[in-house]
Amino acid sequence: MSAETLTVTDNRTGRTYELPIVDGAVEAMALRQIRTSDDDFGLVTYDPGLKNTASCRSAITYIDGEAGILRYRGYPVEQLAERASFLEVAWLLLKGELPTRAELDGWTHEITHHTFIHENVKKFIDGFRYDAHPMGILVSTVAALSTFYPESKGVRDADAREAQIVRLIAKFPTLAAYAYRHSVGMFFARPDNSLSFPGNFLNMMWRTTEPRYEPHPVLERAMDVLLILHADHEQNCSTTTMRTIGSSQADPYVAASGAAAALYGPLHGGANEQVLRMLDEIGDVSRVPDYVARAKAGEFRLMGFGHRVYRNYDPRARIIRKLAYDVFEVTGRNRLLDIALELEKVALEDEYFVSRKLYPNVDFYSGIIYQAMGFPVSMFPVLFAMGRIPGWLAHWQENVDDADQAIVRPRQLFTGPVERDVVPIEAR
Ligand code: CMC
Repeated sequence: MSAETLTVTDNRTGRTYELPIVDGAVEAMALRQIRTSDDDFGLVTYDPGLKNTASCRSAITYIDGEAGILRYRGYPVEQLAERASFLEVAWLLLKGELPTRAELDGWTHEITHHTFIHENVKKFIDGFRYDAHPMGILVSTVAALSTFYPESKGVRDADAREAQIVRLIAKFPTLAAYAYRHSVGMFFARPDNSLSFPGNFLNMMWRTTEPRYEPHPVLERAMDVLLILHADHEQNCSTTTMRTIGSSQADPYVAASGAAAALYGPLHGGANEQVLRMLDEIGDVSRVPDYVARAKAGEFRLMGFGHRVYRNYDPRARIIRKLAYDVFEVTGRNRLLDIALELEKVALEDEYFVSRKLYPNVDFYSGIIYQAMGFPVSMFPVLFAMGRIPGWLAHWQENVDDADQAIVRPRQLFTGPVERDVVPIEAR
């Protein structure tokens, strides 16, 4: 008997099965042979939230949640945040290697020259109510891009795929900034091709009457680092959505729109927005212990705390916590920082959080920086999505190229009524 197997005895029948273990996993389909009779469908796994199911093989991002390790294509995120730019990281995620100087120059040129959006998209944005949430605008306009690039349906065509990848990375900040400008009734500030990727985004966000917007170098770099830290996180809810929609061979615009919708939820990318609302609600350092007690009593969750994968300090939170001080040198200190630091201290000393291994996650400090940089809370999930787009695309591409993959179509355990007859409405 091979050592790389699992022996299972079905106590219903007394039969024994030997299932292969490959890369630490048992194939769910191998369970199908375990039946009580010929017309039995066979054993399935039950895994709500896919907490213990590997749905793909991936070479993109590695996380060791116990040790607090995050690597993109083998490179520690700390080193990338210090030594690379967001566009280098996007290339790395998509192509597997860091770009050479010539590759980066070509890539930067391509992205920079696809930042403009069709004028009709602006009209589309204009149609939203004056107070529309920018994330709602983003989700809709990213999907709408699909109608402008019908060739994007050719998901198996490598050239068409590359063109949509460039467009999505390039146009995302434009849509994000325009969504914001619309929500505050401001004119749309055009992309400035002479600026860096993050610098141009800040230009589109903040330019008013100045002929040329000059981003502050510290804030420009902080923006870039925040994007790097959000660029990928393996099979999270939004990435899984991207892969799932992509598995039906839908085009990447509608798939990315679906991924952004998944990110919008308060348990995922919407958490940074909730963190700020929470810190505002606490209002003062003195009220932290009472707030923590209420979270422990199950009244609500501490937003920005806990993670499905990390059972240690989220490495991204550590980098952002440090970055906050650089940003505050320029913007002035955010008063919410003291409340956040106290909340972290109280929670990390509390048995409830310690025993459940609940540590600050990426969203805990990012919102404080965003707020200091002038972003309204409604823009926080939009910024998260802007950073995550290369990750979504890298996974989408990997999925399309993976011969093992098929359209996602899980099983269910049916709990509804057995067959019954329809009673005419008069008799019900
Ligand atoms: N505050 C208080 N208790 C918590 C929290 C929290 N933030 N998170 C988990 N718990 C408790 C939970 O009540 C449960 O306790 P018990 O065992 O007594 O029932 C235990 O910890 C395990 O929780 P879980 O729901 O089984 O854990 P999960 O892995 O399913 O949830 C999570 C992960 C991120 C959804 C959750 O920790 C949470 O809701 N956090 C707050 C929202 C948040 O910050 N989300 C951002 C995640 S990071 C950004 C991203 O990648 O999207």
